[in-house]
Amino acid sequence: MIKILAIESSCDETAAAVVSGEGQVLSNIIASQIPVHRIYGGVVPEIASRHHLEAIAPVVAQALAEADCSFAALDAVAVANGPGLVGSLLVGVSYAKALAMALGLPLIAVHHWQGHLAAVKIEHRIAPPYLALVVSGSHSGLLSVGAEQSRMLGMSHDDAAGEAFDKLARALGLPYPGGPEISRAAARGNRNAYDFPRAWLPGTDDFSFSGLKSAVLNQLNRRRMTGGPLSEQEVADLAASAQEAICDVLSAKAVAAAKREGLPLIALVGGVAANRRLRELLAERAAVAGIRVCWPSPVYCTDNAAMIGIAALPKFAAGEFAALDLNAEPRLPL
Ligand code: KG4
Ligand code: ZN
Repeated sequence: MIKILAIESSCDETAAAVVSGEGQVLSNIIASQIPVHRIYGGVVPEIASRHHLEAIAPVVAQALAEADCSFAALDAVAVANGPGLVGSLLVGVSYAKALAMALGLPLIAVHHWQGHLAAVKIEHRIAPPYLALVVSGSHSGLLSVGAEQSRMLGMSHDDAAGEAFDKLARALGLPYPGGPEISRAAARGNRNAYDFPRAWLPGTDDFSFSGLKSAVLNQLNRRRMTGGPLSEQEVADLAASAQEAICDVLSAKAVAAAKREGLPLIALVGGVAANRRLRELLAERAAVAGIRVCWPSPVYCTDNAAMIGIAALPKFAAGEFAALDLNAEPRLPL
């Protein structure tokens, strides 16, 4: 059986996985640094790279142990080499290169977003053509995925969807990472309490979340002038209304693009794909349009190495290997 060790270290998760040539995930280990960065309200790049250095060897050892696999049984090493934080990426890339060289194995470079796109194949049998809505902390975009070629239809002009969630959470006094916190608070709130703006950007498949961010900050400033701290219910209402504005635009624009392009399926991927309201709205609207939807389990939505391994499989089959001068590319284009 072909076995590929995959490594992911682009942000604040040190992750390793072993996947089989048939696309089975044999192990998927994630060492999260969330508690370390939480006190700063976001990821501190220098601290992240130091923690990756400490975690990478034990995380790989655990991934191999859980897959009941030895170094000698591996057929290739795959690594996400960008985009991401350069100091974080460097740890994974250097480790993967050293391992590939020491074991005499082929090295496979994977674009981080290609990993997110591949995550949906772990639990679903899907074939192109389909529309991918990629929503993470660093990227929001709509991609038409074809059998031969994929085409970027649109992307965010400013903040990525996850970044918008994180910044809104911070403004509301909620901890990092903001997405899951907003989602939790929103569950107790009224999503129609505030009518926050939606940037529809007609005639494009692009997104913009900076206007929403300003509107929420203005609302908070106005409210604070009247004195007293925000009540838990006010935070919940603000979180629910802001979440609704983001999910409304993402789901409506994804369904409109899929309809226009004649694509029968929408794959929702990336960290924000874990959001329950986004899944609900997208499913509702896609059903009305006769379009199917699918998304990965939450553990495969946020950063993980299994998705990097799955994205590496076609490259392995095609003999598309990276040289040992592979570098970390913080702004790697898709
Ligand atoms: O894909 P990911 O793990 O990392 C990047 O490639 O950026 O995405 C992380 C982002 C964070 O911004 C986080 O707040 C967001 O995904 N996120 C969520 C949820 N879970 C994670 N956003 C909304 N709702 C969630 N449940
Ligand atoms: Zn990611």
